[in-house]
Amino acid sequence: MIVMEPSEFQLRKFVAPEFIFGIDARKLAGRYARNFGARKVLVVTDPGIIAAGWTEEILDTLRSVDLDHTVFSALTSNPKAEEVMAGAELYRSANCNAILAVGGGSPIDCAKGIGIVSSNRRHVLEFVGVDKVDLPSPPLICVPTTSGSGADISQFAIITDVEKRVKIAIISKMLVPDVALIDPVVTTTMSRELTAATALDALCHSIEAFVSTAHSPITDVHALQAMQLVTANLLPALKQPDSLVLRGRMMLASLQAGLAFSNASLGAVHAMAHSLGGLLSYPHGECNALLLPHVVDFNFSSAIQRYLEVARTIGLNYDPSLPDTGRTALTSFLQHLIREAGLPSRLREMGITHDHLAELAEKAINDPCIFTNPRQMTRHDIEEIYDKAL
Ligand SMILES: [Fe+2]
Repeated sequence: MIVMEPSEFQLRKFVAPEFIFGIDARKLAGRYARNFGARKVLVVTDPGIIAAGWTEEILDTLRSVDLDHTVFSALTSNPKAEEVMAGAELYRSANCNAILAVGGGSPIDCAKGIGIVSSNRRHVLEFVGVDKVDLPSPPLICVPTTSGSGADISQFAIITDVEKRVKIAIISKMLVPDVALIDPVVTTTMSRELTAATALDALCHSIEAFVSTAHSPITDVHALQAMQLVTANLLPALKQPDSLVLRGRMMLASLQAGLAFSNASLGAVHAMAHSLGGLLSYPHGECNALLLPHVVDFNFSSAIQRYLEVARTIGLNYDPSLPDTGRTALTSFLQHLIREAGLPSRLREMGITHDHLAELAEKAINDPCIFTNPRQMTRHDIEEIYDKAL
């Protein structure tokens, strides 16, 4: 059990969008757009989701309420600032007044960027940091198609600055969608690799939020439930990808991890993964997975009780009188899970060499996620963790 210290009751804000969770939630997209006063909807999606048939099905919900729309799908994974600006130009020229995002973290983050660029009439890179957005986005409806990013819930958007080869984080209440329609059905077409990578992203969200210096009793509840759901259901879900029960549990994990991290923020895993993703545009979930055991090992001594609670929650055995046995049990379990899920476990598999480490560390130490890591870090610490993961 967590013992509540007076420090647990520091002032904390909790922001979340309206969300509908459950089978066929996606079918409510048209009704919500109509209720938000939409006249013409910019639909932000990606070619993979179009090919899977989900975009067309959701467009039908707009047609069923006589709403006009235009589709923007010229975006890549790890959305680029230029793609956001191109989407905002289409929103303006097509005279749209609402946005519907259908996809994983990339289309949703791109849609969030398009929203704030459209209402504030500034370049998306000008919003970098915390609370730098003045005006709210037009109505934004999200239908997440992966179970991991939490972008449909969060007040974060991660955009790549291609010129500087860095991912920037925009953190603002203005990025919270107006509604998230969270439907496990759409995740049944995810590949094994995407299922694994996005699940590890959700697991990182839950663990980083739980040990964050900005955690609260409300974020803890969601973080603990999410890590339990991911660790108990990921491998079964990979074996039975058509099981709606298992897909539903993974989707619930993503939602709860999203509620936790959006309000407690993250830590060194995400700071370092953003740096990696900006340099090489490698999938976010894979970067996170690879770094997680090394960051847990580094952070453990600064948040022993919290990490032991993580170990207990996911059902690991250790000797309570010897906390280091908890550290070993947790890092070994995470390495095992990553291996069983088929994700890369070494940076060199991504093409990273020693020559990249100083630049990676320099970018990671400037990422806003580093500020809530439970252990303070120097550039040298970060470089050493990258080196261990090499
Ligand atoms: Fe993430």
